[in-house]
Amino acid sequence: MIVRVEKSKLYGEVEISGGKNAFFPAVGAGIALGANRIKISNTPKIKDIDIMLEILKSLGCSVRKYNDTVEIDAEKIQPKEVPQELFGKIRGAIVIFGALLGRFGKVKIPMPGGCRIGERPIDQHIKAAHQLGFYVKEENKTVEAHGIPKDGKILFDIKTVTGTENAILMSVNSCVEIENFAKEPEVIELINNLKKFGVKIEINNNKLLIDGKHRDFPDSVEFRLIPDRIEAGTFIIAGAATGGHIKLRNVIIDHLRSTIDKLKDIGVNIIENENEIEVIGRDLYEPTEIVADSYPAFPTDLQPQITVLLTKAKGKSILKDNVFPERLNHVFELIKLGANIKISEDNRIIVYPSRLRGSRTNATDLRSSAALVIAGLIAEDSPTFIENFEILERGYENFVYKLRKIGGYISIPMEAEHQCIQYLLK
Ligand code: EPZ
Repeated sequence: MIVRVEKSKLYGEVEISGGKNAFFPAVGAGIALGANRIKISNTPKIKDIDIMLEILKSLGCSVRKYNDTVEIDAEKIQPKEVPQELFGKIRGAIVIFGALLGRFGKVKIPMPGGCRIGERPIDQHIKAAHQLGFYVKEENKTVEAHGIPKDGKILFDIKTVTGTENAILMSVNSCVEIENFAKEPEVIELINNLKKFGVKIEINNNKLLIDGKHRDFPDSVEFRLIPDRIEAGTFIIAGAATGGHIKLRNVIIDHLRSTIDKLKDIGVNIIENENEIEVIGRDLYEPTEIVADSYPAFPTDLQPQITVLLTKAKGKSILKDNVFPERLNHVFELIKLGANIKISEDNRIIVYPSRLRGSRTNATDLRSSAALVIAGLIAEDSPTFIENFEILERGYENFVYKLRKIGGYISIPMEAEHQCIQYLLK
């Protein structure tokens, strides 16, 4: 699908949806706890969620969606192998690994593919299972694990979000210490959700201490997703880039601390008020240096978006992505729009003041497609056309509708418009 985006200033209010990346661990928690009924509210209507529900159905679950709620009946779930064509579509499905080990002590998954932001290995997930005493076999592009979880220690070589989620899920029946765990809000929310059902989890500096030996075995669980901090950050950056004035409702400001502080540093006027953020943009910003890293550092998932904003800085800015050093697709597309950006030997992104001009671009992954929309909102002279726009709709609920509502000029082909409306009416 090709969309057309034109220069526009954003004014108005936008409601932030539930977090895509909080949905997967919430499902994992329900499965690992052994619940037969899993109810999750504040769930965004996006394709990645639908793919996850298809995966659950392939394991024997039945699912129901109404309003912003997803109900999963997991009574008949089995540790069968997930079909590769489904599993390979979304990274979030990887939590099935830890969830089924937590519930059955058994799992078989296809080896997940890489994607356009770099290699996406799961060696740390496998290492965690080994360290808990599970037998793990990797062959024919599948990973199979089984065993009785022991008490023990998991030490991660690097901070991994879904790796940490899997390590926690496979530990819900044991006493486990996890060192060098990821502290993203979605991980902390998983911990909070498991503690509601008697899993004792203590955060002791860089260690997680889990004791699941006396936990409940609930028949049903109910979770409400935290707001999507990356959707919020995307709209904040879009408002700032267009020099507009927008208000975001339904955010958790703490989850955006590093992003808000960095934007204030470069001159964006941001007013914080409980669960709302007001953004007042301007024409030019101060240059800066950004290192994207594990939480609470600046998030890699907002690196493409802020790269666009920094074309409106008065001088040279430098970005380094320590999480996905190869997260550069947006740079090549921005250069097509006239951005003056260089990439150094060690993958630093060097952004010089640039006047973007509308042109044809290509979305390659979720966050770079959002970055291209922001570029289209500030590009001069002619519209910006973005091919493969459907990628963006996998991770942002009602994006076109929300952007239009705050004055963003974005048009999609008629048939997509029709699908978009049908999807909204579901
Ligand atoms: C999660 O991916 C998010 N996805 C990503 O969001 C996010 O960019 C990423 O965390 C970092 O914050 C979900 O939660 C579904 P990692 P994840 O394991 O867990 C390396 C989006 O746009 N690594 O924290 O897959 C890895 O290659 C997506 O919503 C290993 O080497 O990321 C990367 O360099 C994009 N071995 C680094 O660690 C492993 O076994 C961090 O990746 C696992 C990871």
